[in-house]
Amino acid sequence: MKTLYYKFMAFVVTWLLRLLPRNAPMVYKGAGSSLVLAEQVSLLGFNKVLIVTDEFLGGSGILDGIKAKLTETGVEFAVFDGVLPDPAFDQVQNGEAVLRTEKCEAVIAVGGGSVLDAAKMIALLHLNPGTLDDFDGIQKAKRPGLPLFAVPTTAGTGSEITLAAVITDPAAHRKVPVVDSKMIPGYVALDPEIMKGMPPGITAATGMDALTHAVESYLSRASTESTEVQARAAVRLIFKYLVRAFKDGNDMEARDGMAMASFYAGAAFGRTSVGYVHGIAHQLGRVCGTPHGNANAMVLPEVLSAYGECVHPRLADLARLVELGEPGATDRQLAGAFIDAIVEMRREMELPLQPKDLKAHDVPGIIDEALKEAGGLYPVPRYMSADEVRHIVNRLLPA
Ligand SMILES: NC(=O)c1ccc[n+]([C@@H]2O[C@H](COP(=O)([O-])OP(=O)(O)OC[C@H]3O[C@@H](n4cnc5c(N)ncnc54)[C@H](O)[C@@H]3O)[C@@H](O)[C@H]2O)c1
Ligand SMILES: [Fe+2]
Repeated sequence: MKTLYYKFMAFVVTWLLRLLPRNAPMVYKGAGSSLVLAEQVSLLGFNKVLIVTDEFLGGSGILDGIKAKLTETGVEFAVFDGVLPDPAFDQVQNGEAVLRTEKCEAVIAVGGGSVLDAAKMIALLHLNPGTLDDFDGIQKAKRPGLPLFAVPTTAGTGSEITLAAVITDPAAHRKVPVVDSKMIPGYVALDPEIMKGMPPGITAATGMDALTHAVESYLSRASTESTEVQARAAVRLIFKYLVRAFKDGNDMEARDGMAMASFYAGAAFGRTSVGYVHGIAHQLGRVCGTPHGNANAMVLPEVLSAYGECVHPRLADLARLVELGEPGATDRQLAGAFIDAIVEMRREMELPLQPKDLKAHDVPGIIDEALKEAGGLYPVPRYMSADEVRHIVNRLLPA
């Protein structure tokens, strides 16, 4: 009975994601592109903007070039740097209050997925006053938000191209997925210069988030020819550049490749949604505070193995794409080689294998919510049983 309900939901989500009207952002790419984006603000006629960021980035000097360009072109700005990782709705409300008091006409988000998501919601909330519950779900806002410019400083979430924002509701201990194509930024800069100061641990974790988006999109029942092209491009770039960017943050070719990979993966999963890796990872974030990319990395190979035979042909495609496996290998062997390569990547970048402070009594809640999220929201390649998810989650407990 439950599987029937899940299948129905997967059908609805698939078609909603396919049919939702959406505008493609204007994209500026390459070293210095964040300054080109900043230049557009005055050209587009905005007199005052709100820069949304977090406290660390706000104090890091990363914004200096953008601020200087705005000033040079006669654009005033206010700064809201109150976004925390996995942003909660009160931070969105605080940012919107600054926007309103300062009478800003547009929003520039400079940060990782947390900042981008908060900024998307700030811009939307400004013209659609309401509570978080009012936005919980698909396409709930009545009007578009304020114009939004996005400069991602991590290469992972793809939030700069997706129609989603993940906002925490602390009272309900819940991460609320707000899905609304009116939140897709209008202007995006993929600037490797902005990413070069990203520490290796964050580079690794956010890159594994991008890989998870690409792979889960490729395995999604909602994938189409165009999302498959984007997912494959992302996988190719990540296999070529992620470990390089991890080892040498100043490798601009690798940073550039990862910025593009994250964008392609975001474009793909924004139309296909994700799968059990995200279903489980979101619970680890909620229960243990595990950063999103780290949580994905902890379970990506294990979930791919658990899917079994039904994903072998698709994973074999990806293995061939990145030239893994022996000539003449079967799909099963190639799928195994692809999963092993992810395990090796995880090992090489010394990503943690277990969340901090996961307790045995947390496991049943994690399983329930992961089954609900993946089954109810994502067009997964096949439905897993509670035992299968338990097997994956139990491995995350300390010995
Ligand atoms: N909207 C979407 O489609 C989507 C998709 C996936 C994840 N998410 C959400 O994105 C959030 C995670 O985003 P994230 O993984 O980018 O991390 P993040 O934005 O939470 O940032 C993590 C840390 O990295 C720091 N940081 C960011 N850029 C840096 C840089 N260039 N140099 C040095 N430090 C830097 C930040 O200050 C922060 O302390 C989660 O809330 C997740 O739910 C959203
Ligand atoms: Fe993700």
